[in-house]
Amino acid sequence: MPPLLNPRLSSSLKPLLLLSQSSFAPRKFQIPRQLVSVKRRAFSSLASEQSSDNGGRSGGGGRSGALSPSPVAEEVQRIDVNPPKGTRDFPPEDMRLRNWLFNHFREVSRLFGFEEVDYPVLESEALFIRKAGEEIRDQLYCFEDRGNRRVALRPELTPSLARLVIQKGKSLSFPLKWFAIGQCWRYERMTRGRRREHYQWNMDVLGVPEVTAEAELIASIVAFFKRIGITESDVGFKVSSRKVLQEVLRCYSVPENLFGKVCIIIDKIEKLPIDEIKRELNATGLSEEAIEGLLQVLSIKSLTKLEEILGGTGEAIADLKQLFSLAKKFGYSEWIQFDASVVRGLAYYTGIVFEGFDREGKLRAICGGGRYDRLLSTFGGDDVPACGFGFGDAVIVELLKEKGLVPELSLEVENIVCALDHDLQAVAATVATKLREKGQSVDLVLESKPLKWVFKRATRTNAQRLILVGNTEWQKGMVVVKVLSSGEQYEIKLDELE
Ligand code: HAM
Repeated sequence: MPPLLNPRLSSSLKPLLLLSQSSFAPRKFQIPRQLVSVKRRAFSSLASEQSSDNGGRSGGGGRSGALSPSPVAEEVQRIDVNPPKGTRDFPPEDMRLRNWLFNHFREVSRLFGFEEVDYPVLESEALFIRKAGEEIRDQLYCFEDRGNRRVALRPELTPSLARLVIQKGKSLSFPLKWFAIGQCWRYERMTRGRRREHYQWNMDVLGVPEVTAEAELIASIVAFFKRIGITESDVGFKVSSRKVLQEVLRCYSVPENLFGKVCIIIDKIEKLPIDEIKRELNATGLSEEAIEGLLQVLSIKSLTKLEEILGGTGEAIADLKQLFSLAKKFGYSEWIQFDASVVRGLAYYTGIVFEGFDREGKLRAICGGGRYDRLLSTFGGDDVPACGFGFGDAVIVELLKEKGLVPELSLEVENIVCALDHDLQAVAATVATKLREKGQSVDLVLESKPLKWVFKRATRTNAQRLILVGNTEWQKGMVVVKVLSSGEQYEIKLDELE
């Protein structure tokens, strides 16, 4: 042991170190037997003795009550220690990363002046039933509760937001700028970054019909990426507007009510063979000519080319031009590009849509959003212009891993406080309380432990100071402080401990 303490203090340490070799030495935990045995039927041992004594016959004289077999067959069930497929535990190291991520979500939202909201994870199933044939509908975790109500674990936050806005009605003052971080559930085919439960950061603006709202939302995601070290050479945003499709469909006199369905089919363009897409479009009632026209427009990657085809007067072109011009002013032009094939897989979008993607093309969409001006009326409310995005916690972590940008986050506690004598444990608690009241974090050693153990623990918790409560010092109302980074050591009155 290095010369740690002053001679007076080390005299008070000696008994402790001696003890450490005997009764206070750290004990190895023993696994309780129930956890290792499998489906062991536990009858009382006396009962089995009785049955062998009397040849297996029941009854007999003597202490009949004590000898009868236990009426309860106690079963020990070996459980699968993994969480259900597609879900995650968050042990401390993963929780630190999650908190780090969420803190950035929160901080960016704060910088943009958004207010935090939340909704229940369990919602009524009807909130998520839309008729357009979305994938999300088939992935719903839904069931009937004990009161025979159809309920679902939310697969996304937007319908809950719409519900709350309708419920609050006139009491709200627009524009609303709301953000939420919530767990969503989708019975999804698992791929890298796609899970059956994920957390989504959402930012939504309600009450603003202008493209300035979309521009602001993309600016906030860019701000987030920059904070965590992701640049425009790592990721980009593909931007389009559903009004592009609307204008094309209008050209071919496709009825408005098919719009949502067509968008959902188009969204599958990268997942399904093109013939299958054509077949599905045809099945909705689109003519061969309309399908060809639609597919041609979807392949366009330049706004100028789109303008040539659609003409310069439509809303789609005007919105997109305004967005690209605002992007310049915000300073994120390098991050965004026009791509007509982006339509998004949710039926409710009506205008600008966008998706964040990794430029290496290894991962699925990092985030996505758009304008949904007519969602509220589908729930019986009055429409309010709205747009927003969802940003999952899983794909971004995969991207950070790819780029070697996952931060090293270790447990950090400012002080470790330890009594050097069992009788001083209560005093150590007083020391810890004093420090905590001053806002200092304290890992209080709750049992009598050898100093070697305390040092090991201090290393594991990255404690900055070790505070020892020993008899000799405490008689003078003092404690010993050891600054662990420098080795500096001093005695100090408890009242002066900062
Ligand atoms: P979404 O595109 O379905 O949009 O999801 C948004 C983001 O959530 C995705 O880009 C991805 O980061 C993440 N995500 C979705 N599903 C999964 C999954 N199974 N596993 C891991 N991450 C996933 C929406 O949900 C819209 N409600 C977003 C929105 C908000 N639009 C307007 N406001």
